[in-house]
Amino acid sequence: MPIEFAERIRRIPVYPTASGYDLGADIAMLASNESPFGPVPEVFDAVQRVLSGVNRYPDPTYSALREALSDRYGIPPARIALGNGSCDILLAAGEALLEPGAEIVYAWPAFSEYPHLAAASGARAIEVPLDADDRHDLDAMAEELTVATRLVLVCNPNNPTSTSIGLDRVAAFLERVPSHVCVVLDEAYCEFSLSLGDPYASVELLRSWPNLVLLRTFSKVYGLAALRVGYALCGENSFRAAVDVVRQPFHLNIAAQAAAVEALRHQDAVERRVTETLAARLTLEQDVRDLGLWVAESDGNFIWVRLPEDADEASIVKGLGERGVLVRSGTSLGREGALRVTVGRPRENSRFVAALNELM
Ligand SMILES: Cc1ncc(COP(=O)(O)O)c(C=O)c1O
Repeated sequence: MPIEFAERIRRIPVYPTASGYDLGADIAMLASNESPFGPVPEVFDAVQRVLSGVNRYPDPTYSALREALSDRYGIPPARIALGNGSCDILLAAGEALLEPGAEIVYAWPAFSEYPHLAAASGARAIEVPLDADDRHDLDAMAEELTVATRLVLVCNPNNPTSTSIGLDRVAAFLERVPSHVCVVLDEAYCEFSLSLGDPYASVELLRSWPNLVLLRTFSKVYGLAALRVGYALCGENSFRAAVDVVRQPFHLNIAAQAAAVEALRHQDAVERRVTETLAARLTLEQDVRDLGLWVAESDGNFIWVRLPEDADEASIVKGLGERGVLVRSGTSLGREGALRVTVGRPRENSRFVAALNELM
């Protein structure tokens, strides 16, 4: 007899990870919205310094990182949740808030991990289609709120479509959400967003809406994807306490903690990288538009390209891979006939454009 697993194992969708991590160096890795820039040298030094202490468990209160984030955003440490990547906090939120009979509302397509939350908990997922511009339709989402709603996810800027919605509209939406319903504003890419203003702007919303949680990550703009550090700025302590209850202790290793604390000290480097990424994005967008393709209005470090109706998305993705360029197919992310392309270094972006031109 084979091993008998819990029923939910059959329901949980397998996360569509990008392929190509084993292909070697000469590949343009434009598939996972990572930063093409490594961390600043001081981050490596900080990691090196803590490695001699690996025989001890890491600080389970993560006090240094919690305090550094508290100083930066003016949120008390007790309202800051930390995670092994922001995904860790997202999944913990599902575990802490959802159960059979409960409902979770999110836009679709959005971050591929969202469907996991309902599948793992037995809650009902309400997926609200994006509007015609591939943006969140917050009115339609508000109409889906019921007495059973426990959790709402708003991805801003949205992965995979790269589009964002202004904070005034987010605030108007929050007005319509009952105060016992938790709203997670997933801001993995907020530092790249020009239209959302600076990354402090949404923090202001926490003053008025204690049921709001801002989910952020060190994986993108800080270039620490492999170390897995995410954080949540919470409107009230209870969210942080609940996501800590459902997870193992020591979920953030010492190298990750040290790297994140040090990375926060180098905001000048962050700003430089944002500027370079945005400049490269403008060129990439224009080059793709020059091929006659529609590109969504991006507010992140990636672009969302709609392919012509007669184009074969799968063979284009395959052809790009054969030319050493990895991107994500729209189908794997919830929408057929599109490509999600990370903004890499200018050389990588040009390689993508040249390969796409050959294939179109
Ligand atoms: C919108 C969004 N949220 C969360 C994450 C998770 O990031 P991490 O777990 O690396 O912090 C990602 C990763 O791509 C993302 O795109």
